[in-house]
Amino acid sequence: MKAFLIEKYGDQSAVRAAEMPAPEPGADDVLVKMHAASVNPLDFKIRDGDFKMILPYRLPLVLGNDLAGVVVQIGPSVTRFAVGDEVYARPDKNRIGTFAELITVHQDDLAPKPAGLTMAEAASLPLVALTSWQALVEKAQVQPGQKVLIHAGSGGVGTIAVQLARHLGAHVATTASAANAELVKELGADVVVDYRNQDFEELLDDYDVVLDTLGGETLEKSLRVLKPGGKAISIAGPPDAAFARELGANLVLRQVMNALSLKTRRHAKRHGVTYSFLFMRADGDQLRELTRLVEAGEIRPVVDRVFPFDQTCEAMEYAEKGRAKAGKVVVAMA
Ligand SMILES: NC(=O)c1ccc[n+]([C@@H]2O[C@H](COP(=O)([O-])OP(=O)(O)OC[C@H]3O[C@@H](n4cnc5c(N)ncnc54)[C@H](OP(=O)(O)O)[C@@H]3O)[C@@H](O)[C@H]2O)c1
Repeated sequence: MKAFLIEKYGDQSAVRAAEMPAPEPGADDVLVKMHAASVNPLDFKIRDGDFKMILPYRLPLVLGNDLAGVVVQIGPSVTRFAVGDEVYARPDKNRIGTFAELITVHQDDLAPKPAGLTMAEAASLPLVALTSWQALVEKAQVQPGQKVLIHAGSGGVGTIAVQLARHLGAHVATTASAANAELVKELGADVVVDYRNQDFEELLDDYDVVLDTLGGETLEKSLRVLKPGGKAISIAGPPDAAFARELGANLVLRQVMNALSLKTRRHAKRHGVTYSFLFMRADGDQLRELTRLVEAGEIRPVVDRVFPFDQTCEAMEYAEKGRAKAGKVVVAMA
């Protein structure tokens, strides 16, 4: 099969197309013929080697973290899927590789593709929709009437998180450039802050939850727009000890991660709010919940552009250089 891989960590020049042996499904695995995969900033970070410490991949490594396709073979213990099913998934972090013609995925990480979506639309969803679910439903437990701020509402995560927060009954504020204000309003934002010309800290206060997708100064300011008891959840800020525990990190790495977030946690404490880091995980059951929301019209995918599979490198470059106007960049195999 054809796949896009790296043999050493580096910039985009390290990514190349190669012929690989077709993967064999294990007992609980489903072999999926890929129809589409989407590009995530995680792909660049893995390619660069930023996650070497916490995700020790063996090279060569096929890149890609999102998939939509059709089941072509199942392992002997698979009960939840059959040959011919249309599926989508974010595969487990240790079993990535969706920029390929075939992939094996554990049955617990897959879900039926939402009816009515194209394969490209479906492939745009799993990683960002699971991230949004795990931040807003699992961690923040957003309740109707709460005030939620989502940063970068026009991004891959933001376009879905804004819709999910609205579905949960929250009052939603988001930061986006002026060109995307109409889009994020249509997705469910009640308040849009033009981050290029306005300071969200001066305009917003008394928020229950902030989903931070940017880290740095944005995270620091976000702590100050929360009400006492509010929750800052970051997917781009410093990792915390809870994340290190989830990873099963050794004592040294746990202490390093704890130290990295010490300043942010201290600032959070001073403002009477909490800080936590989220690293999303594969979860087929949560993805089934998201399938229902998509089919009910509560969440829709936002796809900026679809590239043919042989232009996967161009798709990555386009996404990495921030050329997408809003939402996700997808590659289509079929
Ligand atoms: N920890 C995890 O589990 C996890 C999961 C998913 C993503 N992430 C991380 O979260 C980040 C966002 O991911 P993504 O997929 O949403 O990225 P993305 O699609 O590349 O997001 C790009 C968006 O960011 C917006 N933006 C840029 N600077 C901004 C600012 N100062 N304020 C507000 N918006 C700004 C842009 O908005 P305009 O076009 O409107 O200017 C653009 O639409 C990445 O760093 C990614 O690695 C982490």
